[in-house]
Amino acid sequence: MDFENIEVSTEGAIHTITINRPKQLNALNRATIKELNTALNAADENSGIRAVIVTGSGEKAFVAGADIKEFAEFTVAEGKALSADGQKLLFDRVEQMNKPVIAAVNGFALGGGLELAMSCHVRIASDNARLGLPEVSLGVIPGYGGTQRLAHLVGKGKAMEMITTAGMVKAADAYQWGLVNKVVAPEELMNEAKTMASAMCANSPMAVVGAMKSILAGYTDGVNGYETEIAEFGKCFGTDDFKEGTTAFIERRKADFPGK
Ligand code: CAA
Repeated sequence: MDFENIEVSTEGAIHTITINRPKQLNALNRATIKELNTALNAADENSGIRAVIVTGSGEKAFVAGADIKEFAEFTVAEGKALSADGQKLLFDRVEQMNKPVIAAVNGFALGGGLELAMSCHVRIASDNARLGLPEVSLGVIPGYGGTQRLAHLVGKGKAMEMITTAGMVKAADAYQWGLVNKVVAPEELMNEAKTMASAMCANSPMAVVGAMKSILAGYTDGVNGYETEIAEFGKCFGTDDFKEGTTAFIERRKADFPGK
């Protein structure tokens, strides 16, 4: 697959998507969002891929936000469409992936960049990363799910503070607040992400996705997370993965999950 704004690579069951506009600090223009959507769809359809890592190219930024130059002249209708299309094509798409997605946050994660990291299921940051939702300093609000996902991760009070001050937080503070799962030295970031991805890949893909769906259900309006958990738990009993997992336990060997 040929892309202009992203790079993709696969190592075993781990697929890495790198946003590759370093001169613009990997800002998300519409072309990049479309390419990310294509890459995510392909990764989701490929049963050989069991975990995805999303990162940014260069040493400075994960993603410095939506491309401000692209939307600076937008009308009200165009602004609304930008938000709706972006949420559907990228941010909701990432969250709804049928395999875990890890954000390897290698620098600035601002605006749409932090929103992308928050759509991922897990975030690992390098210790030089800076995270924030500075949209109100531009006269807009976070439009790629940031008002919702930030509050889910850090609570209403911290989300109010971060969004209304437009401030950036250091990786260490982000870790303390639960905004990122781990902080490591920049040179260790990709290895750490791959180690976590490998741990995920060793487990039943069917069970991993069922668990992720159940967790997310609890954060979805109108959906009962406990009911989702009951349904997803029940489904496991009809899978080859369940047979393999329980048999391997009884036979005192490591499970080798078929993913069915
Ligand atoms: N959009 C477009 N271009 C961007 C960009 C963005 N979000 N962020 C950085 N760039 C570009 C800069 O314009 C600059 O390009 P030129 O060399 O062509 O001028 C290049 O990337 C390098 O950036 P800086 O020279 O600004 O680098 P710096 O080290 O001085 O500052 C920074 C780094 C603090 C991250 C700064 O670039 C910055 O504040 N960026 C914008 C952050 C931001 O406000 N993000 C929110 C965007 S709005 C949004 O995301 C809306 C939404 O939710 C839908």
